[in-house]
Amino acid sequence: MQKKEQSQSKTVFIRTYGCQMNVYDSERMAGILKPLGYEAANSADDADLVILNTCHIREKAAEKVYSELGRLKKLKIAKEKQGGAMTLAVAGCVAQAEGHEIVVRAPQVDMVFGPQAYHRLPEMLARSARARGDVLETDFAVNEKFDRLGEMRRADGPSAFLTIQEGCDKFCTFCVVPYTRGSEVSRPVEAITAEARSLARQGVKEITLLGQNVNAWASAPPSECDGLKILDNDDGSWGLGQLCRHLAKIGGIERIRFTTSHPRDMDDGLIRALGDEEKLMPYLHLPVQSGSDTILQAMNRGHTGEAYKALIAKIRAARSDIAISGDFIVGFPGETSEDFEATMALVNDVDYASAYSFKYSRRPGTPGSVMAHQVGEDEKNQRLALLQALLESQKQAFNARQKGRVLSVLLEKDGRHAGQLIGRSPYLQSVHVNAAQSMIGSIASVRIVGVTPNALTGELLKEDEAVA
Ligand code: SAH
Ligand code: SF4
Ligand code: F3S
Repeated sequence: MQKKEQSQSKTVFIRTYGCQMNVYDSERMAGILKPLGYEAANSADDADLVILNTCHIREKAAEKVYSELGRLKKLKIAKEKQGGAMTLAVAGCVAQAEGHEIVVRAPQVDMVFGPQAYHRLPEMLARSARARGDVLETDFAVNEKFDRLGEMRRADGPSAFLTIQEGCDKFCTFCVVPYTRGSEVSRPVEAITAEARSLARQGVKEITLLGQNVNAWASAPPSECDGLKILDNDDGSWGLGQLCRHLAKIGGIERIRFTTSHPRDMDDGLIRALGDEEKLMPYLHLPVQSGSDTILQAMNRGHTGEAYKALIAKIRAARSDIAISGDFIVGFPGETSEDFEATMALVNDVDYASAYSFKYSRRPGTPGSVMAHQVGEDEKNQRLALLQALLESQKQAFNARQKGRVLSVLLEKDGRHAGQLIGRSPYLQSVHVNAAQSMIGSIASVRIVGVTPNALTGELLKEDEAVA
């Protein structure tokens, strides 16, 4: 009886907010739902199940969820009037942080579940169908999630995310992540290797290893040793550098990336790997948040501006062409104009290839939200504009320096124009190039001939020219 119900074709629409971890989780949810008969819908309008995979990092991100829920409520009522039905679910970090509040504020929602409960989706759907509503799952059991998700996974294109670590123990005073994702948990090498192999078999060329603090990843060496004898950690466990070397041996995997790293966990083993493991791409996202030591301390970052710059110098000594990216917050409580100037000075010293910058947003429950001397909105806007102008000019200069170079580009998908493909350079820049569609999934040598604000344009190299 239940079997018959499960095999009927239904549709699901998943809207993803926030970071790459959520993108990965949404893919996995779609994968879990597929055997239950759920096909992807193009929009919420024609879906039987709508899942909002939410982000709680800044106030705006959380607000978006409630306004989307208002819109979906109307849709759900209209469907019910016509004799149809729609199951509405809220997943992700808002669900984890505000589970009970969502149930109260948005009674049209049938299911609320946090990031560690996705593997229980089939069971929750069955419960929701029986009870019509009120399924709330917000426990932490990361390893159970990893175990139950297994290695089965359908790849979508030549580049794929792979979560290797979840959670954060750093407790930066502005941030909700330690509360929404729990403490740091690393996935074992065997499970990561199995997922990477499965992706490679499906034609994936590039994997991006994900974690809230991906470089805090540590695990016991695999039971089947692959001959890698360089130990990163004194206790004999493996660090991220060694994991990357191990994954680089998988046939078909040509490129490895990882994000997001914390300066405090950037160990020598990983820096060495960035220097000599050819499959590790020369791009590092290493958020600093501020250049002022007073603010860094108030943020509980655990490093100074000088320590961060020294780390960058060490990384550049290992890999001179590495593209450095970062995150910044302006207007943290107590930030004076001198503190802000220190951030501008650090940016000038480091010279970023790309960056994300945000106005400080007060998050309920975090120490920063109740600190004295909150910075006014006008001040935040002015500082953000100045910082973004500087970061943008550095990004444009970095892109302009690629002109004339030959870069290896992983061709990922069709471009906007006929005959055009879009790929990624080793430095994660978008590259537009005229090439046959059959080349999607290959890594081509491309001469960079032009630079537009958000992409490079290039030409396929004739076979007899060498890659620079
Ligand atoms: N784990 C990663 C990223 C966390 S969230 C790391 O530690 O780097 C991504 C970025 O959002 C952060 O780096 C920070 O710049 C920004 N962010 C986090 N909380 C914020 C807040 N309350 N207000 C504004 N920006 C915030
Ligand atoms: Fe948030 Fe800090 Fe952890 Fe990053 S390191 S997730 S900013 S608490
Ligand atoms: Fe947002 Fe949660 Fe990611 S708060 S940034 S979706 S970890």
